[in-house]
Amino acid sequence: MDGNGRWAQERGLPRLQGHRAGTENIRKVISSFAGHGVRYLTLYAFSVENWRRPRAEVQGLLSLLGEVIDREVGNLHREGVKLNHLGTLDGLSTRLQKRVLSAMDRTRNNTGISLNLAFNYGGRQEILMAVNKLLEQANSPHPVDEAMFSRTLYTADVPDPDLIIRTAGELRMSNFLLWQSAYSEYYSTSTYWPDFNEEAIEAALQAYSLRQRRFGGLKQRQ
Ligand code: FPP
Repeated sequence: MDGNGRWAQERGLPRLQGHRAGTENIRKVISSFAGHGVRYLTLYAFSVENWRRPRAEVQGLLSLLGEVIDREVGNLHREGVKLNHLGTLDGLSTRLQKRVLSAMDRTRNNTGISLNLAFNYGGRQEILMAVNKLLEQANSPHPVDEAMFSRTLYTADVPDPDLIIRTAGELRMSNFLLWQSAYSEYYSTSTYWPDFNEEAIEAALQAYSLRQRRFGGLKQRQ
């Protein structure tokens, strides 16, 4: 969800105001993607590297997450959204950890769009977490295969992403779903996250619909 900071700076506002505006946009983005039939949506909200930001910004983002959970989980639950956290809870306050776990618990049986919040998430950290988990079961007679490895990741119940959208013109992976994105289609838009609206979503989906996905073969696959 890039561009919150620049969105704010261009308006002479503090960066946190940009994060607030970005947060306000999330509800509309979820309903837009759900309306287009998307079943899984992952929002990359806070990477393990984002702890390097100034303390005030980090604290602001952590409290925004808590606020959003308190304010939105009831609505999301009524709309059938299933919430899932990707990342580690280590380093978050006990109160925030409890809020995240209870939001997941409350929505666990919902059958609408699955909303994954990648928060305190890092792709390399996730891979190491899975390797260490598998090492704990190292006396298994079977070699580790791709399916087994995938099942050990935070995304165990989530299919690999078909499309990764990056806002604010960035063209990096930034440690996002490194294993899962092996054959994802990539799309970058110059639109800042707080302005990422229905029109921008349609443009992204339209671009995706024109891609030919061959997964390394010669024939297109769905
Ligand atoms: C990237 O823009 C954005 C973030 C690091 C934070 C995104 C977080 C939210 C939208 C709100 C909190 C999350 C949830 C799930 C409620 P940037 O700060 O790098 O902006 P810039 O690239 O313009 O500097």
